[in-house]
Amino acid sequence: MKKITNICCIGAGYVGGPTMSVIANKCPEIKVTVVDINQKRIDAWNDQDLDKLPVYEPGLKEIVGESRGKNLFFSTDVDNAIVEADMIFISVNTPTKTYGKGKGQAADLKYIELCARNIAKVATTDKIVVEKSTLPVRTAQAIKNILDNTGNGVKFEILSNPEFLAEGTAIEDLLQADRVLIGGENTPSGQEAKDALSAVYEHWLPKANVIQTNLWSSELSKLVANAFLAQRISSINSISALCEKTDANVAEVANAIGRDSRIGPKFLNASVGFGGSCFQKDILNLVYICKTYGLDEVSNYWEQVVLMNDYQKRRFADNIISTLYNTVSGKKIVFYGWAFKKDTNDTRESSAIYVADALLDEQAELVIYDPKVTAEQVYADLDYLNTRTEAENRKLVTVVNDPIAATENAHAIAILTEWDEFKTYDWEKIFDLMLKPACVFDGRRIMESSKLKNIGFHCYRIGESC
Ligand code: NAD
Ligand code: UGA
Repeated sequence: MKKITNICCIGAGYVGGPTMSVIANKCPEIKVTVVDINQKRIDAWNDQDLDKLPVYEPGLKEIVGESRGKNLFFSTDVDNAIVEADMIFISVNTPTKTYGKGKGQAADLKYIELCARNIAKVATTDKIVVEKSTLPVRTAQAIKNILDNTGNGVKFEILSNPEFLAEGTAIEDLLQADRVLIGGENTPSGQEAKDALSAVYEHWLPKANVIQTNLWSSELSKLVANAFLAQRISSINSISALCEKTDANVAEVANAIGRDSRIGPKFLNASVGFGGSCFQKDILNLVYICKTYGLDEVSNYWEQVVLMNDYQKRRFADNIISTLYNTVSGKKIVFYGWAFKKDTNDTRESSAIYVADALLDEQAELVIYDPKVTAEQVYADLDYLNTRTEAENRKLVTVVNDPIAATENAHAIAILTEWDEFKTYDWEKIFDLMLKPACVFDGRRIMESSKLKNIGFHCYRIGESC
């Protein structure tokens, strides 16, 4: 079996950085180089102050601290890392297309194609190329075509090895992965490549946790896994709306159904809607693929998961507006949380952005506090929407470091991220600082509404009637 001694990973983002750090840490005899065209990101990965790494994940800085400079390297020298490696992971972003055919649904594969062309151009020895990015089913064919037509005689073996980590628990998910999925061709050299990659993971995971499949099953399984996970959230969120009308409590319903071992208790937390860079993008990609195969019913079925999520975000914002007497113009509303979930600094597709947008349309004054998100990022997220000018965003939105002082003379607090620290605040003091009636809109169901109501707050929690 081919033994891997040198790995290159193209893309030093939320997946490439943590995944390669764990591989380097668990495989000290393998040199791992993570490369990126973004100089600022690489500089941050190399920062001596481990609190300045570009990705915040519990446990990450400790692992980077142990391995960086020994067998883990971060660099912008993409070509050299490709030349030296015997296995190359492609872990670049695959966002939803914003132009042309498939706009708004299909995955934009331009970064993937650029990587493949670059590998084809500079490689001088045989390579195993691993798709780590999430890709539409049959992308490996396109990558193979590009690589095989270089004409310089180098042999490439393509594997699909989608990543299942969730942000905020990335290190734990990598160290104790439920499973690792490796797809490849069922040829002798394909099998050898699959076994070589399996052996990397078997440094710390039981062999039984490594699943080998054909390329297409592996590529498709990743999209389907995300679609099923997001579907559960949209399902419980749809029921949260019904609970609010009927005095049923969504947590009690989730507990009651989750005790059926066929349904299971996980991933049934009703919320202001799922965010993150992948659920929406991957479902829309699935929707698009189904459509291109003429499977309209299948496509419409999955699209509903995203439409329900949009509805949930809108419903939350509408609830704030109607509770505040149908006018929030000039009213101060404090956001607790901006990240798309706790324990990450990632804000991509965070529900907070869309709730903020709806309230800003009504000319609310927003004050944002998040323990890990910078003011620069909050403004960048709002500017990206392009719904108002940069000057308007800066006039209407303030980003603060003191979550308690922020509530002075505020009409309402909206909880958008489930950071643990929010539960530890002195809520009586907050009540005293706020204008009355003081309202809390809990989009994450983290506060005990009875406790807040006893203090005097008007309290709304997703999935419960007020
Ligand atoms: P990211 O945007 O954080 O990182 C991607 C990086 O790739 C960027 O730093 C970018 O500069 C770099 N890049 C792009 N083109 C390049 C090129 N030609 N050469 C070198 N570097 C290049 O993205 P991410 O969140 O790490 O996601 C990467 C992939 O993994 C996506 O396909 C995503 O769907 C998938 N995924 C993400 C997660 C997650 O939790 N974020 C989990 C599982 C799978
Ligand atoms: C998700 C999947 O869980 C990972 O397996 C997958 O690898 C990843 O997408 C990906 O492909 O990018 P992630 O988006 O990082 O991971 O985080 P999740 O924990 O899945 O949360 C996604 C969103 O759903 C968050 O906004 C979260 O708050 C929300 N959520 C989650 C709920 O509203 N309710 C729940 O019960 C669970």
